[in-house]
Amino acid sequence: MRNEWSGMRVFGAMRARVAGVVLCVVVAAISCLAQGLAGIWVQPGRTLDNGEQQKWVLVLKQNGSDLTGTLKSLDYGVELKGTATGTHFELFAAWQPGTPYFTGYLVNGELHGLERGRRPVTAKAGTAADDIPTVSYIDPPALKTVPDNGLAKTPPMGWNSWNLFAGKIDDQTVRTMADAMVSSGMRDAGYVYVNIDDTWEGVRDAQGNLQSNHKFPDMKALADYVHSKGLKLGIYSGPGPRTCAGYPASYGHEEQDAKTWAAWGVDYLKYDWCSARNIYKNDALQPVYQKMGAALEATGRPMVYSLCEYGWGEVEKWGPAVGGNLWRTTGDIRDSWDSMIGNVEKQVPTAQYAGPGHWNDPDMLEIGNSHMTDDEYRTHMSLWALVASPLLAGNDVRSMTDATKAILMNKEVIAVDQDSLGKQASPVKNGDLETWVKPLADGSVAVGVVNLGAAAAQATVKASDLGLSSVKSARDLWAHADVKFADGAYAATVPSHGVLLLRVSK
Ligand code: GLA
Repeated sequence: MRNEWSGMRVFGAMRARVAGVVLCVVVAAISCLAQGLAGIWVQPGRTLDNGEQQKWVLVLKQNGSDLTGTLKSLDYGVELKGTATGTHFELFAAWQPGTPYFTGYLVNGELHGLERGRRPVTAKAGTAADDIPTVSYIDPPALKTVPDNGLAKTPPMGWNSWNLFAGKIDDQTVRTMADAMVSSGMRDAGYVYVNIDDTWEGVRDAQGNLQSNHKFPDMKALADYVHSKGLKLGIYSGPGPRTCAGYPASYGHEEQDAKTWAAWGVDYLKYDWCSARNIYKNDALQPVYQKMGAALEATGRPMVYSLCEYGWGEVEKWGPAVGGNLWRTTGDIRDSWDSMIGNVEKQVPTAQYAGPGHWNDPDMLEIGNSHMTDDEYRTHMSLWALVASPLLAGNDVRSMTDATKAILMNKEVIAVDQDSLGKQASPVKNGDLETWVKPLADGSVAVGVVNLGAAAAQATVKASDLGLSSVKSARDLWAHADVKFADGAYAATVPSHGVLLLRVSK
């Protein structure tokens, strides 16, 4: 028994030793695998229209189970921290400590993971040559006031390529769009800017001049063509090294690029923060936007200056001082009711800052892009007019339905938007009905009642709610008909997601 017992103990000890050895081997293997996470990981991306190769690069350092690193592509960079547990890793961005930014496993020498919980990544081990060089820091300039360029006394009107065409925009499309702006009547209704958004950019030449890519073989000739139609040309860039779509932007080349655009005959610049966020904090927004405002001014060519930085850093307070004529107040609009209503409702806190020469911009129009109903598009147009928003059509002007034409070219609604007083309406909510009142230069008011509900509803507009003691005349701007106030009020049925839009004179 004793022997048996001691034999068992010996066996037990042996087992423990073997287990210990196995454990050591496993731990060693794990730490070896875990060590294998350090280095440069690369996933090639698409080839841009300027011939550059987009890529996803993760540069990782490891200390035990602690990981630190930078995730980069041509247009963004994120500092990450996290842990490795065996072959598994989790990396977090500072602004979102609770949710992994990038998580996954090391599998057969490759990183397999998910970026922000949705984008699958398979990255191979790379070399230093695959890394994206770090951009050197340029101090923002000291603050000064850029003189008012005297443009955009009423909200700018035109067309922009992004909402519908995104990266599929080229010279031929812009030319045919310019033709259609004229033949459809859009130009004569006031839509004069034809704005090329992101993805026109080529690469810089040996002198650092930014060229257009193969989709835009001759920007000067295109500008001449657009001008020959009685229209104006807009272009897009940003204060970071890269645009949102990953193309070269104006960081460190502000004056040079402004001169290039002036030489081409550009009349409007949309300047998008995007990759500048990898270099500057929001406290640098004003001086960085000022830099391009001053560069535009120095060219001597009048160019509308559109700030696109999603409403960050209280832009409404300093937008005019940097020479800005309009500034985005929201993230990107989508062709959906919720997105459209969400964007316009975000205008409320900045309403007092709109006025001749400088406007809040809840983003471009989606009218005619077919994911909302015509009632919803009438509401979209009415609200953009009531909040004195820039009116930049984002649809295919070459193939508009009659309903789309009637909405975009409703002259009475455009007149509300373009009113010289430049006041921005704010809403008053009453159940599903939201009433927006905009005072106009001639002493009349525009009033829009939007039905946010799922069923038709009765809207009643009272003269007293409009600050009017009596009503001389009133007009329904969608019915194009005069209407009568009785006992100081006017009532009408408004369809779900529809609008009643009146112009009321005392
Ligand atoms: C950002 C802007 C959009 C558009 C794209 C282009 O998302 O907000 O309006 O300009 O960039 O890449």
